[in-house]
Amino acid sequence: MSPDDKKRAAALAALDEITPGALLGVGTGSTVNHFIDALAERGPAIAGAVSSSEASSARLRGYGIAVVSLEQALVGGARLGCYVDGADEIDPGFAMIKGGGGALTREKIVAAAAERFVCIIDDSKRVPVLGAFALPVEVIGMAVPLVTDWARELGAQACIREGFVTDNGHPILDLNGLRIEDPTALEARISLWPGVVTVGLFAARGADVCLTGTDSGVERSVRGG
Ligand code: 5RP
Repeated sequence: MSPDDKKRAAALAALDEITPGALLGVGTGSTVNHFIDALAERGPAIAGAVSSSEASSARLRGYGIAVVSLEQALVGGARLGCYVDGADEIDPGFAMIKGGGGALTREKIVAAAAERFVCIIDDSKRVPVLGAFALPVEVIGMAVPLVTDWARELGAQACIREGFVTDNGHPILDLNGLRIEDPTALEARISLWPGVVTVGLFAARGADVCLTGTDSGVERSVRGG
């Protein structure tokens, strides 16, 4: 089975995780694109989606699925029941590297508003230790030289993502060469650097459920389970 077939299988399995009639958080990326397609073609009807990117919003709207702002969704202290998104890497504790598609900031915000994070991946994304995939950091432009220096002090080489700005209008630095043994501590540390908008480590709020597409079907695993 190809990696894309495995992504599609995981995305399809995520339909069973969502609550019919509810608002749903929707992430970004090729796996989520499969999820949006499946939702439109055979998913339960939902009240609407809170999207983490302009690209996902456009895809949802293309199918006639209502896109609701997060502010609207949270009126009266409500929370989203479920957020469905992919990942670039996920470790055994369900901490993730995300942001390969550049949507990390809105992804982290929408994920924080959800009771459950359902991660959909192919099996190449499961790793014993995070860091082989370059860690994305969304940065205010004027802070790029400083963040590059601080990354070097961590032992990482920061590379600007050429020709790319996020939906929020900022550049991304990709941090290469890290071996992330303590993702919660590193997320907290980088988040404190002045000029950092968001680091693509999702450890303080990791995944709750992981649906992994493999050659032998979709494996469902639960954090701590
Ligand atoms: C986008 C993300 C994606 O979830 C991540 O890059 C995985 O993408 P794909 O499903 O295309 O492999 O974090 O910012």
